[in-house]
Amino acid sequence: PRKAHELGQYVMPPMHLERSTHEGGARAAMDAAPHRLKGSFDVGGQEQFYLEGQISYATPKEDGAVHIHCSTQHPSEMQHLVAHALGVASHSVHVECRRMGGGFGGKESQSALFACVAAVAAIRLQKPVKLRLDRDDDFMITGRRHCFWYEYEVGYDDEGRVLGAEISMVSRAGHSADLSAPVMTRALCHFDNTYWLPDVLMHGYMGKTNTQSNTAFRGFGGPQGAIAIENILDTVARSLGRDPLDVRRVNFYGKGERNITPYEQVVTDNVIHELVAELEESSDYRARRAAVNAFNAGSAVLKRGLALTPLKFGISFNVAHFNQAGALVHIYTDGSILVNHGGTEMGQGLNTKVAQVVAHELGVAFENVRVTATDTSKVANTSATAASTGADLNGKAAQDAARQLRERLAECAARLHGGDAHDVRFANNAVQVNGQNVPFAELVRAAYLQRVQLWSDGFYATPGLHWDGKRMKGHPFFYFAYGAAVSEVVIDTLTGEWKLLRADVLHDVGRSLNPAVDVGQVEGAFIQGMGWLTTEELVWHPQTGKLTTHAPSTYKIPTANDCPPVFNVRLFEGDNYEDSIHRSKAVGEPPLLLPFSVFFAIRDAVSAAGEHRMNPPLQAPATSEAILRAVEAVQGHTG
Ligand code: MTE
Ligand code: MOS
Repeated sequence: PRKAHELGQYVMPPMHLERSTHEGGARAAMDAAPHRLKGSFDVGGQEQFYLEGQISYATPKEDGAVHIHCSTQHPSEMQHLVAHALGVASHSVHVECRRMGGGFGGKESQSALFACVAAVAAIRLQKPVKLRLDRDDDFMITGRRHCFWYEYEVGYDDEGRVLGAEISMVSRAGHSADLSAPVMTRALCHFDNTYWLPDVLMHGYMGKTNTQSNTAFRGFGGPQGAIAIENILDTVARSLGRDPLDVRRVNFYGKGERNITPYEQVVTDNVIHELVAELEESSDYRARRAAVNAFNAGSAVLKRGLALTPLKFGISFNVAHFNQAGALVHIYTDGSILVNHGGTEMGQGLNTKVAQVVAHELGVAFENVRVTATDTSKVANTSATAASTGADLNGKAAQDAARQLRERLAECAARLHGGDAHDVRFANNAVQVNGQNVPFAELVRAAYLQRVQLWSDGFYATPGLHWDGKRMKGHPFFYFAYGAAVSEVVIDTLTGEWKLLRADVLHDVGRSLNPAVDVGQVEGAFIQGMGWLTTEELVWHPQTGKLTTHAPSTYKIPTANDCPPVFNVRLFEGDNYEDSIHRSKAVGEPPLLLPFSVFFAIRDAVSAAGEHRMNPPLQAPATSEAILRAVEAVQGHTG
């Protein structure tokens, strides 16, 4: 990507995002700052490593139509692309997805190749065709998280407060655009992370390279944007000899002031101050900092490191019109309920949450509600299940459908039993009406006989969103999710081996729809993000350009053994300020930023190996080799 950048070869035009609060902007602010530093930083890509690979099964139907079972996060896009490939209208293509064995962004767009090829072959042969990739082929054919290279300059004061910053981000887009532009947009919109950057200038370049076309991966560029500012603040803190937590904190967005993002959205729901204060206390950060220093003073070979990193993540698709969803709810005469919505299930628990919402609305047990496969012939024109919006959008759409049914049933109950329809209550599989308790199934049966419509559609569109892609300004996010983590590691300075000893996480999901599912998402994202920043390394052959790490034998994802022995994960108490589904917050992607704390704890341990005399030249992923090279650099060995 750096070579592509030098040659000016991009898959899409460069992007620029600037905000200045002073005359002269970032340049003038940096020139006037008491301190300044320049640097560069590398962050690797990441394979999604969904357990189920890409797979599509196409069956020819009458009149040139086709039915496709596809492991995809985006059934509607598969429908459109297959229709385009076959030269037929959308109504002739029926796409279904019961569930994916994991997607992680890798099946947003990249499932299309397999859906289209299977469909073309099925129509040509007039036989069912299934395409299912071997792991190595999946790895070599499909794209993954973009690796990023950054070059930055920053001006700051004696406390480490950032006064001005300029950054260029260069991503490896691969041979075609795919989702590289929206990924870069999200990276630029997350460079601020939890920090007020008064004067800032950002550039995004999507390098065209002879490699697979890269795509979405949990966080969708957000992690790549935010880790850049975290690396800068860590470097600023070390240059000033301050605890990085103190430098991070002086830069936090304010409440009511210093609260406008570079893209001009005002941060109105900031909880980072109280969240970090709570975690600092519960993780015993200060005492453990002293303990780490004491340990390091008495240990020549093993060095410990500690870091606390915060996160803020914008929820909604930047493109406003994607933020819509639909649902269908059917009540059968035995009182059982069938739900269909536009989202896809990939292990994140979306169907569980949507079923809970419907059960709650109609006052029935969770077991009475069944969610069917995502199906383009049921809910049309759906958005990808992505940007962590699945439960926000589809939960609201399903709630809308269920509410309409509840209102119809309430009116029917009042007609039959007397009283006011507004006073009818739905709870515990029963309906309370005019002092009577009618079983839910009995009311449904009575409503059927009264010829009441017992199914409904629902729709939702997130309010208040706008985005000007040319100026890179607007109000792209409905709200922000917050979180923070403290990690403590030990490294072996002779081998570069490392271990995560303990991690403490406090993560904001608003009022959780399902704490068990949400804690699962937080833990999974933490470990997955840790893999990205440590052991997972992509290596291309220098002569042939072939990817040499295309199986678990050479590409190391974390295993159960890599989970820290002490892993304290808690959900932050507090409702979403916005009127989201039951005041919850999206959880799918934001916690992927929590393991920044692992990377910066490793950086802290490496720094300790050099008596904190210099900033460690540590790049991500911090593999054992990278750690050893950085240790040698801070200890003055030139190797
Ligand atoms: N969790 C599991 N188990 N499997 C997945 O594939 N994908 C992640 C996240 N959590 C994923 C997951 C990604 S990339 C996104 S965008 C969200 O789930 C999508 O689901 P949601 O919008 O319903 O949270
Ligand atoms: Mo997730 S990367 O938005 O599919």
